[in-house]
Amino acid sequence: MFRTLDQADLSQKRALVRVDFNVPMQDGAVSDDTRLRAALPTIEKLRAGGAKVILLAHFDRPKGKRVASMSLAPIAGPLAALLGVPVAFADDCVGEPAEAAIAAMKAGDVLLLENLRYHSGEEANDPDFAKALARLGDLYVNDAFSAAHRAHASTEGLARLIPAYAGEAMRRELDALDKALGKPERPVLGIVGGSKVSTKLDLLKNLVTRLDRLAIGGGMANTFLFAQGWDVGASYCEKDLADTAREIMGLAAASGCELLLPIDIVVAEKMEPGAPARTRALGAVEPDERILDAGPQSVARLIAAMEASKTLIWNGPLGVFEMPPFDRATVAAAKAAARLTQSGALVAVAGGGDTVSALNHAGVAADLTFVSTAGGAFLEWMEGKTLPGVAALEA
Ligand code: 3PG
Repeated sequence: MFRTLDQADLSQKRALVRVDFNVPMQDGAVSDDTRLRAALPTIEKLRAGGAKVILLAHFDRPKGKRVASMSLAPIAGPLAALLGVPVAFADDCVGEPAEAAIAAMKAGDVLLLENLRYHSGEEANDPDFAKALARLGDLYVNDAFSAAHRAHASTEGLARLIPAYAGEAMRRELDALDKALGKPERPVLGIVGGSKVSTKLDLLKNLVTRLDRLAIGGGMANTFLFAQGWDVGASYCEKDLADTAREIMGLAAASGCELLLPIDIVVAEKMEPGAPARTRALGAVEPDERILDAGPQSVARLIAAMEASKTLIWNGPLGVFEMPPFDRATVAAAKAAARLTQSGALVAVAGGGDTVSALNHAGVAADLTFVSTAGGAFLEWMEGKTLPGVAALEA
């Protein structure tokens, strides 16, 4: 259970709010403001309660040094535009610059502090750095699920020093994740795609013990097909992980999780947009062909599995969706998930890495129950790990 802002007396309080403003930038401007928008409900709630809103954030990985190109200063303007109120900026997150800027604040004001990672104490979760942050506030709010897999001073240490609360975005995210994997309505279906089995071993091992069905797609499916004895031609395949793939298949069988591997595939000789694509049965891949997408029968079976499920959890594309026509399986599956979610038949939660881009490509990101913009944190949560930033909020 988490303390939430509804339980807090906010009037005139200095609220230290950890947000994730690690946003994509192009030529010094924010190119995707999703994470800024995600922070708005918490900021607005704190302002409405009369708090002074002090935003703590990191940008990129400056490794304890001031790197001018990693300043958070360019974020203040776009955030002010979204909020419709001025956002002040202090060019250090601790010490005199931060203290002076906070002393000048009135109830409802918003202040953004410079990149936490300019100080090595942040990533080291140094107790003295956490104390220097704690001195700046009366209460702490963590609204950065996507940074909660890091045990850093601003995500972990600080939460233990002053009263700590889960922000609105954090709360929404945790509720959605709980519905998908914590206490899901069954049957629950997982889709895991992407190229590498090696980066998702723990995730696959955890999911096969918790889901009723798991569909494996993308390049990693090739490794499973190879482990089953199929010739995968010139496809990307981690052949050295064949034993691991067999171990995961064994674990799934022992746990009663039905694995859905492709039953037909789409191949091409070159991995490039518009390359001539052919649908092949398993075992019919030529030596110079690469598997780049799941085939129509595999997609039909996956959609039937969605229709037979109450909950879907999805991470990773089914094919090389960035290069049409190898986006077909991903797009068809995404549209089916959106249709079933909209009709009320399915709770669909997706997240991690390429998944958001794939759903945006299919034009359905807004139609699923919840799409997380977290990368590493979403994967670690799917692996069943305790996220330090979440654990520190537990009252
Ligand atoms: C992210 O962008 O996923 C988070 O902000 C975490 O960033 P990090 O991987 O640099 O810790």
